[in-house]
Amino acid sequence: MNKYYYDYIIIGAGITGLNSAINLSKKGRVLLISKGDNNECNTEHAQGGIAAPISTEDSVKLHIKDTLDAGDDYCNEENVKFMIENGKNAIENLIYNGVNFDFDGEKLSLGKEGAHSVNRVLHSNGDNTGKSIRLSLFNKVKNTSNIDYKSNLFALDLITKNNRVFGVYTLDKKNGELDIYLSKGIIMSTGGCGNLYKNTSNPEVTTGDGIALAYRAGAYIDDMEFIQFHPTTLNIENAPNFLISEAIRGEGAVLLNEINERFMVKYDKKMELAKRDIVSRAIYEEIKKSKQKNIYLDISFRDKNFIKNRFPRVYNTCLKYGLDITKEYISITPAAHYLMGGISADINCKTNIDGLYACGECANLKVHGANRLASNSLLEGAVFSKIASDELYRYSLETKENEDIDDIIKKYLLEIDYKNIDYKKYKRVVKLKTALREIMQDKVGIIRDKIGLNNAFILICNIQKELELINKKNIDYFELKNMILLSKIIIKSALYRKESRGAHYRSDYPRKNDKFKNGFKFKIDDEKKVVLN
Ligand code: SIN
Repeated sequence: MNKYYYDYIIIGAGITGLNSAINLSKKGRVLLISKGDNNECNTEHAQGGIAAPISTEDSVKLHIKDTLDAGDDYCNEENVKFMIENGKNAIENLIYNGVNFDFDGEKLSLGKEGAHSVNRVLHSNGDNTGKSIRLSLFNKVKNTSNIDYKSNLFALDLITKNNRVFGVYTLDKKNGELDIYLSKGIIMSTGGCGNLYKNTSNPEVTTGDGIALAYRAGAYIDDMEFIQFHPTTLNIENAPNFLISEAIRGEGAVLLNEINERFMVKYDKKMELAKRDIVSRAIYEEIKKSKQKNIYLDISFRDKNFIKNRFPRVYNTCLKYGLDITKEYISITPAAHYLMGGISADINCKTNIDGLYACGECANLKVHGANRLASNSLLEGAVFSKIASDELYRYSLETKENEDIDDIIKKYLLEIDYKNIDYKKYKRVVKLKTALREIMQDKVGIIRDKIGLNNAFILICNIQKELELINKKNIDYFELKNMILLSKIIIKSALYRKESRGAHYRSDYPRKNDKFKNGFKFKIDDEKKVVLN
């Protein structure tokens, strides 16, 4: 076990983590870690793009309005306003750091997505926007001497004392080695938890670890019931739920059922470009109620070269699975895509733990409310990574009392029985993970009710009991522990929220009820709050 010291630690290396690291490297030595390789993050998978009000037909006011409407009366207006007002600067900063957005002639090319009133989505290399951003920022990180980037490092728990963060325990994925990294403060930017669900557009790493770590350290977490299901992911046997960008619908693609009916006409006047929650529920209804086996997306009527150039990633990926989208319908299904809730943080990304900042999908700044507007997530990451890093820097300048943390570390190592930590794979834990993902998909998905949620809670508790019987602890074990914790919180929140709002739909409470406008905060061991036991 080794102990290292840095000025700043950033956990998670998507757009938020990379941008924060670049910013903080001007102020001190930065450690940036990611659980997998750098391309294993949601940023890499983002296709549609990044929304910002830059066209002459658009305005900050209109973008704010669309965001609030999509959020279903649940956003923090002040934070939304801040995010959108700062969008243009954040985009300029990305361009400065090497991101090449696509142009139509002299002008930036702007796509359209669901619930946007106008075209405002910048994209890069067609539908490779997230990848382009990730590669440009990562290139900058690699060439910045003040940043140490370590991949395949699993953040196990935060080191805290007297409500202040001092560092993080990590496990090396290759050899199971436990190390300690200390710093003046931490930015949590670990992304979401799509992988709690069997069907997800997210990569495997998205098990919500950062949220679980923050929770165990005493941070508040809230709005966890708001899980966004993306309406269109690939539905082909033996293929992952690969994202089929909403931008394709923005270019005219239509949704069809098995009798070739453009069924969205029954659900919303905006048809395929209705809010994401509406489109996902409509597809769900078509599948469940009308017993449709397949729902299709069709873009094949557009020019072949246009499709190939505008959506190279979707085109090539589908082709890999034997589907030519320039000629055929795409079989699609909704899949867990984005978490609106997370670690409660204020407009400065500050949590209730001193020195701990949260930013991006793992954080809840209430800028997405109950349902995120398409392509506002990269925007959030780009805007608030600057804020989080500026704030952490400011915090690091304050004089603080010295604390002896050796006692805390000793106690923790005993508690987790660290000599018994292993790095091998155990089939049993992998099977339990699969079972959890199936339960969440089946009972805590697009449409929920009390019976299903209670049932899911019991089944997840059973998985927890089984996990506790396992002696050998490896990364899968700790990941599953985090998945169980978050699943239980999601279920509890979904049970408490006896209404339907945004992405949270209760068939037993199908209407919105403003009694629930304040949401539910979860915190460990605090009698005054809603506590998960
Ligand atoms: C997409 O391209 O459809 C995803 C965009 C997003 O989730 O914002």
